[in-house]
Amino acid sequence: MDKASSAKRYDLPLPFGWFAVARSEELGPGAVKPLELIDTEFVLWRGEDGAARVLDAYCPHLGAHLGYDSKVVGNDLQCPFHHWQYAGDGRVTAIPYSPKIPPKLARACDRAWPVYEDMGMVFVWWHPHKAVPLWELSPVTEIGDEGWVADEYRDWVVDIPVQELTENGADIAHFAALHGTRSPPVPELKIDGYTRYSSVSTRMPTPRGDIDGKITVRAPGPGVSFTRFHGITEMLLMQMHTPIDRGHTLLRHQYFVPAVLEERKVNVTRALIRETWRQLEQDIRIWKHKKYLSNPILVKGDGPILAYREFFQRYYA
Ligand code: FES
Ligand SMILES: [Fe+2]
Repeated sequence: MDKASSAKRYDLPLPFGWFAVARSEELGPGAVKPLELIDTEFVLWRGEDGAARVLDAYCPHLGAHLGYDSKVVGNDLQCPFHHWQYAGDGRVTAIPYSPKIPPKLARACDRAWPVYEDMGMVFVWWHPHKAVPLWELSPVTEIGDEGWVADEYRDWVVDIPVQELTENGADIAHFAALHGTRSPPVPELKIDGYTRYSSVSTRMPTPRGDIDGKITVRAPGPGVSFTRFHGITEMLLMQMHTPIDRGHTLLRHQYFVPAVLEERKVNVTRALIRETWRQLEQDIRIWKHKKYLSNPILVKGDGPILAYREFFQRYYA
């Protein structure tokens, strides 16, 4: 990735919100992981109690990086340099060679980042001024109570900021031109606080004729969206977009399907997943070289691009 040039092409700030920072399976009990995401260096670890915790990476004592050679002790993290220990709320819990922990170090502090783990992912709340979370990241409600299981997973580093990446769905005209698909109908959009909902009913072509289908999207913030496919198959796409810096995003797809899926829907599901990846790879080629235009020349048929941009402003501090 070419850091300098794509940062220049995008003059957008970093949005605040909940962002996926790791897959749960990458972080066993007692594991520690350095993270370079959202223009920030973090350390992520899992305590003995199974909970994931995230702090700023640099030890405030003398600056060691807590993501390398540190050790999980109980639920706390021990710095490799002088063995100070930190709780997940940023408190210093032990200084082995000093009789007393200064009171200002014994308090929770803003070096700690709120963590939410669910659906096989660890999410961190990030805000440039370290404001407390402005909304909750609720678990998946789209799949109801039946048994669903995680299916395919893939990730990409893309040369585009989150705002531009997620504008893709509002850009109606590119579907036919770039992807060679039928242009989707303009989705019905509903905004509730920091969450965006949209839904479209479509007739999806299949070898056995058209089937009525419905696609609903819930995006609780800029970092994650849940796209639920109904009708032609039952499938949920959890798409996550975590800024790396102002010009680059870590994009992840995690699919979920019912544990028991009708035989004929299994093939449709595979085809649909491959199709989203085919389209995404076409988008990625455009994103690699495009730039952000604050005053694009839009015509009838372009879709609600400016409305989407206006909506997205709520995620900037
Ligand atoms: S630098 Fe971390 S304990 Fe000294
Ligand atoms: Fe696209």
